Amino acid sequence: MSLAKPLEGKVGIVTGVANKRSIAFGIAKAWHEAGAKLIFNYQGDRLKDSVIKLVRENFGEDTPICDLDVGCDESISNFFNFVQQHTNRVDMLLHAIAFAPKMPGTLDGHFSDIPREAFNTSLQISAYSLIALARGVAPLMTEGGSITALSYYASKKVVPNYNLMAISKAALETSSMYLAHDFGGREKPIRVNCISAGPVQTLAARGVGGFSTMFKIYEERCPIGRSCSLAELGATATFLASDGAASITGQVLYVDGGYEIMGM
Ligand SMILES: NC(=O)c1ccc[n+]([C@@H]2O[C@H](COP(=O)([O-])OP(=O)(O)OC[C@H]3O[C@@H](n4cnc5c(N)ncnc54)[C@H](O)[C@@H]3O)[C@@H](O)[C@H]2O)c1
Repeated sequence: MSLAKPLEGKVGIVTGVANKRSIAFGIAKAWHEAGAKLIFNYQGDRLKDSVIKLVRENFGEDTPICDLDVGCDESISNFFNFVQQHTNRVDMLLHAIAFAPKMPGTLDGHFSDIPREAFNTSLQISAYSLIALARGVAPLMTEGGSITALSYYASKKVVPNYNLMAISKAALETSSMYLAHDFGGREKPIRVNCISAGPVQTLAARGVGGFSTMFKIYEERCPIGRSCSLAELGATATFLASDGAASITGQVLYVDGGYEIMGM
């Protein structure tokens, strides 16, 4: 492993690129610069053309990319068939996927209004998907591997409006712990960690009520005086995927300007 290219020779799957503001895009850039070869997904026809263009412009014309809707088992299975047409080994997987339907109480208003159907959808897409993708990628991680998912502080403390996504993040973090245990005992362990990112202006974030207030509060209160950049999230994800993190698993790493330590 060279220090300049800590992921040289490694193959990674990146999920969750919607546009150049996506956290997944920032992490993909860092993984690419660190020497990894990457395989991407796009979610359905609506994003297909723009994500393919973005990926090919930034990561090379021959970068493999395929449709993946994590709400559908057939789509997950097709995706991993596609991956196997391009590689027989995967070293890392990024899970940067979240969705909650806009319904009463889901991403603003009263938490107690959350409808059952919205709850089920959000938990499936935002948390169960980590289990499904981990199960799909595990047989390809023949040399061991690293799975990283994106979480948020609202899983632990109340952040008004984050409501349904907070429960999904709690389920995501707990799933990552149990996956870390499940996959850790292998001869070639697969590590599973979460990065808990401070607020970043993305498409998904814009759906959360009062997001710009959240941003301002971070700037006022966290020790470093700001949230985090895509490049910083990329650097952390590169470290987690590298051999230097070989003994780190089941953890939630806060990349949030230190907001997490504050009591007030
Ligand atoms: N932006 C923030 O402030 C912030 C903070 C902490 C954690 N996160 C997390 O980071 C991750 C990435 O989000 P982002 O902020 O970059 O926003 P984004 O909108 O750029 O990315 C969200 C991605 O989820 C994908 N997705 C949604 N439903 C899907 C499905 N059924 N199948 C496949 N893909 C699906 C979308 O296509 C999109 O690419 C999410 O898990 C989010 O909760 C974001």
